[in-house]
Amino acid sequence: MDFLAQVNEFEAAALLAIQTAGDTVALEQARIEFLGAKNGRLRDLQGSLGQAPRENKPLWGKRFNEVKARVTNAWEARKAALAQPAIVLGGVDVTLPGVRPELGRRHPLTQTIAEFKEIMGRFGFTVVDGPEIEDEYHNFEALNIPPDHPARDPLDNFYLAAAGCTADTGPARLLRSQTSTVQIRIMERNPPPIRIISVGRVYRPDTIDATHSCMFHQMEGLMVGAGVTMAELKTVLRLFARAYLGHDVHIRFRPSFFPFTEPSVEVDMSMDESGEKWLEIGGAGMVDPNVLTAVGYDPEHVSGFAFGLGVERFCMRRHRIPDIRLFYGNDLRFLRQF
Ligand code: DAH
Repeated sequence: MDFLAQVNEFEAAALLAIQTAGDTVALEQARIEFLGAKNGRLRDLQGSLGQAPRENKPLWGKRFNEVKARVTNAWEARKAALAQPAIVLGGVDVTLPGVRPELGRRHPLTQTIAEFKEIMGRFGFTVVDGPEIEDEYHNFEALNIPPDHPARDPLDNFYLAAAGCTADTGPARLLRSQTSTVQIRIMERNPPPIRIISVGRVYRPDTIDATHSCMFHQMEGLMVGAGVTMAELKTVLRLFARAYLGHDVHIRFRPSFFPFTEPSVEVDMSMDESGEKWLEIGGAGMVDPNVLTAVGYDPEHVSGFAFGLGVERFCMRRHRIPDIRLFYGNDLRFLRQF
């Protein structure tokens, strides 16, 4: 190692030892090792400098003196700091460095939902809420899902067994399986025009894996008025996806079926630029005239579109989150990244 490299190494090691010395004994040890007049490392360096080639002496000597002054000053400053008496108040040494409080942060899904509401607010949609415990009328019947429809199968829903409310006697209640229930609740109480979104939890006894959970979040949207068409539905969904995911995302609509819309579509988003990888993000369509009639609207005069999107899937694509279970695991290593 050449002389200047040795000086650099000495400087770093000496400053570290001095600054981390926790008491006067440790500080004295550091002094003996680095600055000691007999066998200290500074003395060795001075010896090497004495034997340096003449032409190197001015530069090396200058650097040596610099480092010597810096390390000596650091030692003196540390000595003064350690000599200060601790100020103890009520058993607490107030001269000790404080413990920085850790700031919490909002859950990534909470952040996503807030952003969804903000984006849809810009399009003129008002945020509304609905209950998570629903009756069969709002979860199924008013949505044009008849009693014998497979979607009502007790094995595909979380029915609640409450006292005094059995299958035979009381109105059956369940954890809502979709946010579409909110469409009914809003239209029942308000005349058209309607332009709302509702974001919240839904529950399904799905097998849990990287993309399925028995509880997840949906954003429901509903727009009803005179002359509302499918063109507006497609535009709103496209603008929304671009606002949240960026301009390179593509949205694809596939013909599908839902009892409460006609025509119905399933909506996919592109997962990359290849045009080959798509992921389903929800369903949508034009509100079925039967649904409009069930809430007392006149399908001859108003029409509307509705959509239901999976919140987690949007957030997963944006942040490249590989597994939906990460959202619910409360692992701080995951949560701290948002
Ligand atoms: N509720 C449907 C589901 O959970 C999604 C959906 C489809 C919502 C069509 C809608 C709609 O509002 O019009 O699978």
